[in-house]
Amino acid sequence: MPYSIDYPCNWLQVAENPMDPFHSVFLHTRVTRAHFNPAWGALPVVDWHKMENEAGIYLTNTRRWGEYVWARTAEVIMPNFAQPPDIYQDPDREKFFPRVGISKWTVPTDNTSCKIIGWRHFNDTLDLGGKGDRSKVGLDKIDFMGQTGSERSYEEGQHVPGDDEAQIGQGPITIHAGEMLGRTDTGVGIRAVQSGKDLPALPRNAEGRIPTMAGDVILRRPISNADDLALQREVGRRVGEIVAATRPLPHGERQAEIERRMRAAFG
Ligand SMILES: [Fe+2]
Repeated sequence: MPYSIDYPCNWLQVAENPMDPFHSVFLHTRVTRAHFNPAWGALPVVDWHKMENEAGIYLTNTRRWGEYVWARTAEVIMPNFAQPPDIYQDPDREKFFPRVGISKWTVPTDNTSCKIIGWRHFNDTLDLGGKGDRSKVGLDKIDFMGQTGSERSYEEGQHVPGDDEAQIGQGPITIHAGEMLGRTDTGVGIRAVQSGKDLPALPRNAEGRIPTMAGDVILRRPISNADDLALQREVGRRVGEIVAATRPLPHGERQAEIERRMRAAFG
């Protein structure tokens, strides 16, 4: 389903969102209530990686939830295209790289306004719990809370803030000099494209398509006496490596290969 949302703020405040998995923990889960799955509130082990040709960046974001170790990857292709994985993913069974929930461009209109134009994906590999709603996707709307200024009153937005309060509440152009960056802000940043050269293109796969780096990998690994944080780190590292290494394969073969390699690594 196509959709668009207008924002009365600088585009960078909106575009940086997919590279910040920590706002999912706090803004979307712990501060008020779980906007998505409660599993988003588990603090993840996060790593950011450069894509081939430095055409973009992707992150791995890995956490434990019950019996599962859940690794998510998300991508930004420079300068303004992003794909997060399934927004209604449930870490309730093993999964090997169902793909993205959203494909979106954040487009500056001028210095203090911008627009997201994108696709919200519905298919039989995503949102197995059926929480999405096509009828809520379209012009200035999308099917999750706190994305548009028009959907709720100012007071409601202040009481249960969503992405729109975090982005627009910074003001028309956030004063970056006033930021106090902490350990969870590592991935929030951008290298300016100032040289005027064409941006690098990503190589295509065997089907002639540009494959995504974004998706979910969920392994069943009940907690043991071993160092669980080290396990999460290792799962995230392997997922990042395997998702990158399998990019050239056709999509169908790629999922099977990701599963084969993850099982070879973790049993
Ligand atoms: Fe968000």
